Amino acid sequence: MKTLFLSLLISTLLSFSLSKELCNSNDKKALLQIKKDFGDPYLLASWKADTDCCKAWYQVECDSTTNRIISLTIFAGNLSGQIPAAVGDLPYLQTLVFRKLTDVTGPVQPAIAKLVHLNFLRLDRLNLTGTVPDFLSRLKNLTFLDLSFNGLSGSIPSSLALLPNLGTLHLDRNKLTGSIPESFGTFKGSLPGLYLSHNQLTGEIPASLGNVDFSVIDLSRNKIVGDASMLFGLNKTTQNVYLSRNMLEFSLSKVAFPSGLENLDISHNKIFGSIPPQMTQIPLQSLNVSYNRLCGQIPVGGKLQRFDYSTYFHNRCLCGAPLANCK
Ligand SMILES: *[C@@H]1O[C@H](CO)[C@@H](O)[C@H](O)[C@H]1NC(C)=O
Ligand SMILES: *[C@@H]1O[C@H](CO)[C@@H](O)[C@H](O)[C@H]1NC(C)=O
Ligand SMILES: *[C@@H]1O[C@H](CO)[C@@H](O)[C@H](O)[C@H]1NC(C)=O
Ligand SMILES: *[C@@H]1O[C@H](CO)[C@@H](O)[C@H](O)[C@H]1NC(C)=O
Ligand SMILES: *[C@@H]1O[C@H](CO)[C@@H](O)[C@H](O)[C@H]1NC(C)=O
Repeated sequence: MKTLFLSLLISTLLSFSLSKELCNSNDKKALLQIKKDFGDPYLLASWKADTDCCKAWYQVECDSTTNRIISLTIFAGNLSGQIPAAVGDLPYLQTLVFRKLTDVTGPVQPAIAKLVHLNFLRLDRLNLTGTVPDFLSRLKNLTFLDLSFNGLSGSIPSSLALLPNLGTLHLDRNKLTGSIPESFGTFKGSLPGLYLSHNQLTGEIPASLGNVDFSVIDLSRNKIVGDASMLFGLNKTTQNVYLSRNMLEFSLSKVAFPSGLENLDISHNKIFGSIPPQMTQIPLQSLNVSYNRLCGQIPVGGKLQRFDYSTYFHNRCLCGAPLANCK
């Protein structure tokens, strides 16, 4: 009788403690598969089958009411192999981050297409190859997409413009070719941040981009030609524009700068004309117009004389402080 009672008590306690496990068993299975596919790395040592993934597993976050995994952030460490297809078996993920890992190779994992709740996707500073996949445009809740510092090639899919909530797009530091899609001027969302620097993009900036009020646009270090004046405009709220080291060729004389512009780098292009007087009214923190074909007097006033000569040097015939006096 006594032993029966005891074993009853023990089994009740046991089942009670087991039922306290919050981790969804399918989620756990997917994570253990990810760990296995990466070859049981030290970085994921806390992922143990006999512990609760919602409590004890590093880099995993569960929703507090459903207990389904909503966030996986694997950052800075030694990990080698491709991103496993099992990430697609975490159907409630909203945040997925693999970043700054030593040896993560292969394509952007196609199974990510199944993660319809994703709003934050960051796969940066890895060694990913292949293209920027078209399927990303089906993840309608994405607000932040970062695939920077990889070895991605091919052109930028124009379908990304279909993402209605995208606010930041980082495709910088890859090997992307082709031109900026025309569709980027008709972004369904507001797209305040567009980062495409350090690629091999060619062609002209689509005129349609003039319709977008970027907060930051960085197109530097590509091979883009032609006009960029549509990116500016008095009524925009743009703060940062980086266009250096392209082959842009347009007149600066008639450009009206956004009144809140803080950082402007248009160095190393073929920009001609003169610096408009309106630039004295802009609260610039940094400016670089060097290595272009500008001419005429640097307008006096505002911040323009606070920058040193290297802001202005190597132009066709710019003159006046901080360069030599005009003749
Ligand atoms: C990663 O691996 C390298 C070389 O194997 C080692 O020196 C380094 O300490 C490791 N870093 C971490 C965070 O484990
Ligand atoms: C997308 O986000 C909205 C607002 O946060 C939410 O109501 C909706 O359920 C989400 N859709 C998906 C597929 O997660
Ligand atoms: C991954 O990329 C880094 C930085 O670009 C590079 O130093 C490293 O050699 C690459 N590793 C592999 C395995 O390609
Ligand atoms: C800028 O806004 C002002 C006032 O809101 C308006 O009068 C002007 O036409 C606008 N200029 C342009 C170029 O849209
Ligand atoms: C402007 O850019 C040129 C060329 O890259 C560089 O040499 C110079 O130091 C820069 N000046 C400033 C003030 O950023």
